[in-house]
Amino acid sequence: MARNKRIKFLSELTQGYDCVLDIGTDHGLVLLEAFKNGYIKSAIASDLREEPLKSAKKSLNHYPVEFVISDGFKNIQSDFDLGIIAGMGAYLIKDILKYAPMDKTYILQANDNHEILREFLAKQGFEIVDEHIIHDKFYYVIMIIKKGHMKLSEADLYLGPKLKYKKEAKPFYDQKIKQFQKIYPKADDARQQALSKLIKIYQME
Ligand SMILES: C[S@@+](CC[C@H](N)C(=O)[O-])C[C@H]1O[C@@H](n2cnc3c(N)ncnc32)[C@H](O)[C@@H]1O
Repeated sequence: MARNKRIKFLSELTQGYDCVLDIGTDHGLVLLEAFKNGYIKSAIASDLREEPLKSAKKSLNHYPVEFVISDGFKNIQSDFDLGIIAGMGAYLIKDILKYAPMDKTYILQANDNHEILREFLAKQGFEIVDEHIIHDKFYYVIMIIKKGHMKLSEADLYLGPKLKYKKEAKPFYDQKIKQFQKIYPKADDARQQALSKLIKIYQME
């Protein structure tokens, strides 16, 4: 079993999909966990750089995996059922998704700026079909997306249109409120106004 809760959770989300593409696979740990548990049949492990892909090759050498050096989707030629883009910043995930085939399901896990990513998804013609949060030292927000239409309020951008209904998100929202309250006293007037607005959003008033 994976020691890392995030890796384990991501791998569990691959159940029901045969061939999984992991973009930015690094050591290939999500795929490894998915194979070990019999969740998937085959995979495409892809990374921008040679070094991480070498590590993935070591971890996954017993499994039917195609290894591809690729900047995002640029060199991905084989078909797949599910794409994973995890453990990166929202801006990088946005850049990668601009070239994503639209007829697939994707699991996204951005390390930051979830509101930026949600705004982009809505504009790009994706729908967030579910969201999850896990805590393993840090909070990790995970989105499942597909082609579709969604209209997001400003609160939805920050809270998540699906996450806001989940009780496990409350400690994450409380942590955000605390962070904003901590920096509030030293912020200038404009920043204080913005912070007050964000605090209200996370308080779900
Ligand atoms: C922090 S690791 C995340 C590894 C794994 N996905 C996870 O969630 O644990 C980010 C990986 O993404 C790769 N990467 C960065 N930019 C990329 C791009 N444009 N296309 C493909 N991979 C990229 C990096 O080389 C690195 O191996």
